[in-house]
Amino acid sequence: MLKKGLIIEKSFSFSKIGFVLATAGSAVGLGNIWRFPYITGEYGGGAFVLVYLAALFAVSFPLLIGEIFLGQMGKKDPVSSYEFLAPNGKKYWKFAGFVIVTAILILSFYNVVIGWILYYAYLVLTDLPQDIIQAKEVFTNMVANGVGTQILFFSIGSLLVAWIVYKGVDRGIQKLNLFLMPALILILLFMFVYSMSLDSFKNALYFMFEPNFSKLTPQAILVAVGQAFFTVSVGVGVIMTYASFSKESQNIFRSSLWIIIIDTFIAIIAGVMSFAFLFNSNLGSSQSVGLAFMSMPIAFVPFGNIGVFLAFLFFVALAFASITSAISLLEAPVTYLTQRHKLKRTKATIISALLVYVLGLFALLSLTKDYSMQILGKSIFDTLDFITAAILMPIGGLLIAFFIGFVLKKEDVYAYLSKRGLRSRLNFSLWYYSLKIISPIIIVVVILNQFGVL
Ligand code: PHE
Repeated sequence: MLKKGLIIEKSFSFSKIGFVLATAGSAVGLGNIWRFPYITGEYGGGAFVLVYLAALFAVSFPLLIGEIFLGQMGKKDPVSSYEFLAPNGKKYWKFAGFVIVTAILILSFYNVVIGWILYYAYLVLTDLPQDIIQAKEVFTNMVANGVGTQILFFSIGSLLVAWIVYKGVDRGIQKLNLFLMPALILILLFMFVYSMSLDSFKNALYFMFEPNFSKLTPQAILVAVGQAFFTVSVGVGVIMTYASFSKESQNIFRSSLWIIIIDTFIAIIAGVMSFAFLFNSNLGSSQSVGLAFMSMPIAFVPFGNIGVFLAFLFFVALAFASITSAISLLEAPVTYLTQRHKLKRTKATIISALLVYVLGLFALLSLTKDYSMQILGKSIFDTLDFITAAILMPIGGLLIAFFIGFVLKKEDVYAYLSKRGLRSRLNFSLWYYSLKIISPIIIVVVILNQFGVL
């Protein structure tokens, strides 16, 4: 009976392109279109981008290969995969699979932002704020006082995400990504090409690519590493879950490379395009988290009706990018419940989505004036963001690195990966030692710094 259930569950696998697009869909999210431009703005442009790219290739890329490898070889939910792959006597490694809790925590505040995005897609069509003062008012007012509005759009977003996941990995997740990812790239390319006609385009390019090392503080370096982590979705069991549905013959190295290329490409064109529009309206590059919701809508005002359309497209792009990430976050606990606890997909989706919804509601309310709630001196929203991105994700990354580097046998790992893109000994060793030695050192430095140890 059990066996049969397992076979039915596992009868589906992503097509090769489906896997790359779904995983890239997970990677490309708020981190690319919202966070990357504003932190680049805050930490001074080109030099920051260089460090980010270096961290991406030294830490995130090896980890991404590692996590896909674990998922593809484990073929199960993260808890069962770690358990299955761990040698006898080390089965306690299954607890590493509970990094999926991080996915639940991330999704809870991620859905709140999706709610804002959906609301803004509607708002800019009806009344686009006209200047920065008004835009700031609209945004802060929504967050602090718009309890009903926020709950409404947050609920719509949460339902949408749950519904797609409920439809299944095949008919929900894969199908949606095959459509949304190309659509997202087209929208951003269109906006990018449009921004090329602006005089400020050249300045935006300089800003993104001219390294000014005097601005590169130690803090900036740590933020760049944190961003490299967040942007590829590693360390929370999401990639492992998707990879468990990948084909046995999927080339792990090539797929990872594509995912990183798509992710970086989108972050860069979103960044240059955003700065071109911002500089064109003489708006600054650093508006912190408000960049997407305050400065960006204003940047489109000078274009009249076309501006309204551009602003709408911008929020549609944000919505597409964030929804494809959100479904990957929800799929991790759903796969865990269906495979390990044999729950029906419907039930597993309802339980996971409800849990996320309740947590998200607290995150949402914690930012409002009337129900403000704090933990550790920050709103629940900020605490969730901080704990997940700064602590839990890096820990998830460390677990992957240690498990592959110190628990599995190197020859077994090579035997598997040599058939999936890492054939040459040199390439394999480069990957292996980056994962085993370099990334843990960098991750530990980042975590320690979060606690003010360094
Ligand atoms: N990578 C996503 C982004 O850039 C966020 C994310 C993190 C998604 C972890 C899934 C898992 O926004």
